[in-house]
Amino acid sequence: MAPLTSLGVFLGLFLVLIPPAQGEVFASTPRKTIQYHNAKIFRVENGISNYSTLMLREDIGILFIGARDAVYALDLEDISSKKAGVYWQVSEEQETSCKSKGKNSMECQNYIKTLETLDDGRMLVCGTNAYNPTCDYMTYANGTLTLEGEKEDGRGKVPFDPFQRSTSVMVGTELYSATEVNFLGTEQVFQRHSFPAMRTEHRQSWLNKPFFVQPDQGVSCGAGLQGGYGRPENPAAEVDVLPEGPSGLPGALEPSLPAIIQDVFLLKDQDWRKSVFYAVFSPQTTTSDLSTVCAFSVADIGKVFAEHRYLTPVTIESETRWVTHTEQEPVPRPGACINNAARDLGMEHSLDLPDKTLQFVRDRPLMEGQCLR
Ligand SMILES: *[C@@H]1O[C@H](CO)[C@@H](O)[C@H](O)[C@H]1NC(C)=O
Ligand SMILES: *[C@@H]1O[C@H](CO)[C@@H](O)[C@H](O)[C@H]1NC(C)=O
Repeated sequence: MAPLTSLGVFLGLFLVLIPPAQGEVFASTPRKTIQYHNAKIFRVENGISNYSTLMLREDIGILFIGARDAVYALDLEDISSKKAGVYWQVSEEQETSCKSKGKNSMECQNYIKTLETLDDGRMLVCGTNAYNPTCDYMTYANGTLTLEGEKEDGRGKVPFDPFQRSTSVMVGTELYSATEVNFLGTEQVFQRHSFPAMRTEHRQSWLNKPFFVQPDQGVSCGAGLQGGYGRPENPAAEVDVLPEGPSGLPGALEPSLPAIIQDVFLLKDQDWRKSVFYAVFSPQTTTSDLSTVCAFSVADIGKVFAEHRYLTPVTIESETRWVTHTEQEPVPRPGACINNAARDLGMEHSLDLPDKTLQFVRDRPLMEGQCLR
């Protein structure tokens, strides 16, 4: 993908998926129920736990699992069968240094959080490594998993804190990731690691203590598009939109708390308009353990970007509220596809957009409107 198109990513295309109102969610019954009888289970080994990363390699029939201090290769035909494993523990020195910074022994381990396949078939493995994010390369050959010992800085690819989530995706030969980038965990950004490297600015109105869910490569407007799908730490704040929002309800009444997103999957179609995001939501309350799956079509999302109104942050009693932007929008409109009118103005892709458009979307990363099917 050309470096230019990817800038579009960093121009406000952070998708916040919001499920329908709670009443609607709980009235639903599953359309399809699947029983699993002879489920194959991979058993925890020697006290190793904290399986946090899965990577499917259909090309070689293996499911890779990143855990604490270990990576496993399981047989796709029968995941209870381990084909190989490799261990990567922190050194005593690293553990001591981690503890001297006030972290405990559980935190000062190596939690493997990122597994990605490179174009030469090797894999990138990154772990928290006792609050010292580090990556290495791994090969799987002749039934053996091997770490190459080519360690490199993993900051920005995996978090320092093992309890934080991070997310990444390989697009061709380029790694995109989203995570915290400092020891204190105060700065969270989206990044592209290949040359020229790029990262989002650290802005509260863009990412306010986000919980990174899932990145994917989609296709939109006929050009490459990457997006990160995250949820804010306090989703109530995100939907606290004036004047049509749930007017001051957040926190107040339990049933009005929005469900929170847990995971997203993009089912791609040749025709990008027909691609569908499936998102799993769970309630924030402890009174219900029902989860819900919502489907959002890319065409509908595109329509929101193209036609709906923007939200502007305003600070009311030191809290950010989002109000509808009613004044004129810049042309070309941020978020809309480059069309013939824009081409006539000499704009072929997002890097050609005028400052006015960029400035506008930089300050207004949220839009009104739902795109629920
Ligand atoms: C795997 O085994 C084959 C045949 O014994 C050998 O030629 C090859 O070098 C081995 N590959 C690795 C990575 O060890
Ligand atoms: C790892 O797993 C243990 C045991 O389930 C749990 O107590 C601990 O909180 C987990 N650590 C992380 C970072 O998830």
